Amino acid sequence: MKLEIEITNDGSSTIFIPEWNERYHSKNGALQESLYIYIQNGLHYLQKDVIRILEIGFGTGLNVLLTHAHQKPNTFIDYITFEPFPLSQDIYNQLNFSGLKGLENSKYLLDILHELPNKEPLNLNKFFSFMKYYQTIQEFQTTQKFDLVYWDAFGPRVQPEMWSLELCQKIYQLLENEGIIVTYCSQGQFKRNLKQVGFEVEVLPGPPFKREMTRAIKK
Ligand SMILES: C[S@@+](CC[C@H](N)C(=O)[O-])C[C@H]1O[C@@H](n2cnc3c(N)ncnc32)[C@H](O)[C@@H]1O
Repeated sequence: MKLEIEITNDGSSTIFIPEWNERYHSKNGALQESLYIYIQNGLHYLQKDVIRILEIGFGTGLNVLLTHAHQKPNTFIDYITFEPFPLSQDIYNQLNFSGLKGLENSKYLLDILHELPNKEPLNLNKFFSFMKYYQTIQEFQTTQKFDLVYWDAFGPRVQPEMWSLELCQKIYQLLENEGIIVTYCSQGQFKRNLKQVGFEVEVLPGPPFKREMTRAIKK
């Protein structure tokens, strides 16, 4: 599939897929959107010393960079992410994240994250462990439990299976009690699926130019 680099309205880059008319982030601001949804309303919402994060999917790596940049002192982060369709070096080299405020000098880390072999553990620092799975979330089998899910798949228009009742059920099983999911998606059917499997669903104001986002808690 053909991919194009785009600059979003806050100056941060994203990737556009012309064939799907779909982007990896909001055209209104990739950095702004990711910071608001995943960091402010996800990572910093949880008051825990150890936070086990699961991300669907890795994509550009922006959420990992932001989680690393906004890690609270003495909070241990254990981060796993899924990516069945990794980006080529030619594409990720064109991302401008290391020129953004708060992500200065992150190019070296971004390269390491993109080049990391399947399921190879990486310590970003003493309190941050990371692992990438080159497979779909649907294929993942584990007895591990997580505290926080960054649900950052392509939208339901192009990948409805990423917001299905079946996947909601799977993610519910993967979470600890009181564990949360955060996502930009606020589709009605997705929220009904979350409720049906047992989540308590919160609708929060969205990032700039988007009405809503979703956070759901396992009760
Ligand atoms: C919205 S984009 C990337 C968002 C990413 N967090 C970022 O900041 O760039 C969604 C990503 O999910 C990946 N993906 C597609 N199908 C998937 C699946 N079944 N399981 C996990 N990830 C998937 C895509 O390849 C893509 O990289």
